[in-house]
Amino acid sequence: MTDKPQFLFTTGQNGGEAVLKRELARKWPEFRFAFSRPGFLTFKLPPDTELYDDFDLDSIFARSHGFSLGKVAGDDASLMAENVWKTFGDRPCRRVHVWAREVAAPSEIQGGSPLDRIASRARCAIQTTCPWPERLAEGAYDPTHPADPGDFVLDCVVVEPDQWWVGYHRAHGVSSQWPGGMFPLEMPCDAVSRAWLKMEEALRWARLPIPAEARFAELGSAPGGSSQALLGRGWYVIGVDPAEMAPAVAEHPRFTHIRRRASQVRRREFRRIRWLTADMNVAPSYTLSVVEDIVTHPEVNVRGMLLTLKLPQWDLADHIPEYLDRVRSWGYNRIQARQLQHNRQEICVAALQQPFYRKGLRRR
Ligand SMILES: C[S@@+](CC[C@H](N)C(=O)[O-])C[C@H]1O[C@@H](n2cnc3c(N)ncnc32)[C@H](O)[C@@H]1O
Repeated sequence: MTDKPQFLFTTGQNGGEAVLKRELARKWPEFRFAFSRPGFLTFKLPPDTELYDDFDLDSIFARSHGFSLGKVAGDDASLMAENVWKTFGDRPCRRVHVWAREVAAPSEIQGGSPLDRIASRARCAIQTTCPWPERLAEGAYDPTHPADPGDFVLDCVVVEPDQWWVGYHRAHGVSSQWPGGMFPLEMPCDAVSRAWLKMEEALRWARLPIPAEARFAELGSAPGGSSQALLGRGWYVIGVDPAEMAPAVAEHPRFTHIRRRASQVRRREFRRIRWLTADMNVAPSYTLSVVEDIVTHPEVNVRGMLLTLKLPQWDLADHIPEYLDRVRSWGYNRIQARQLQHNRQEICVAALQQPFYRKGLRRR
């Protein structure tokens, strides 16, 4: 049985359901909201939907999405796993993604939630009961192994211990290659702040073509987790922040601290900078004004950026299209935005000045 799917599922930040619903109502007005739990939503698709298995939802707040086939319920993991396969039917499948909905805001999650542990058990039960293991790729269940682009993926979201939702998608963009759109990242013991995770995730998601020995400026760099991530890749960093940097970062030979507000830094300090990141705890309009002043200065030539835009009120999310247009107006022609797994009430914007390519020819 491989009927056309009638529902879509999305997962995202716990507490971000209303903003995700509003975003999808704007972009996909024909989808009808159907069901939600914190961090998990489903939508009914119109009867005449013709969406490809790898269609792009084009959402900032949905961390993952796929077609929903319904839920399995019970208290026996083996029986539930058998029912996962029955619900999935004879669709093609190369990989299996099993993960838990987010049960708390990112700042409160330390070392995995109890639902994450149930998801691990669900993954084992699903693996054990697979009716045709020979069809699956090697490492098909391994959450640290990405799906290949084009792979069909069985999705199982553990929404409650006794309620698992089954769906599928076809891997395309980088986030869809990982269970729940989440990169397997662990903060190193010597990281000086959680911002290390945020920067690592941003780099893996945005995949900007940053060369070896690149020069970065980071606006809002203290105490320095994200600078550490950049330094760890061999890049040079100028950190701009009136607050103190952690000694491990301040003393790094490729790090320079300018202990000022971003607006007080002379523009010529940015002349050799090609990559800019910003993570200031200020309103998005302030971040954008400061960044605009820098990147539109005639002596400055910043090729790419990773900007954190804080949304202290969720209503600000309605202005994101204007924020992105503003970034575009500075000459950045490849813009992506996403609420990362390690973002709190904020989003990450990746912007790149992409030279014009046509049929493989580089025009500039
Ligand atoms: C979320 S923290 C940054 C975390 C940092 N990226 C890290 O890796 O640890 C926000 C920082 O923005 C800084 N900040 C706020 N307004 C600023 C401004 N106008 N210019 C530069 N830094 C600013 C604060 O001092 C604070 O250290």
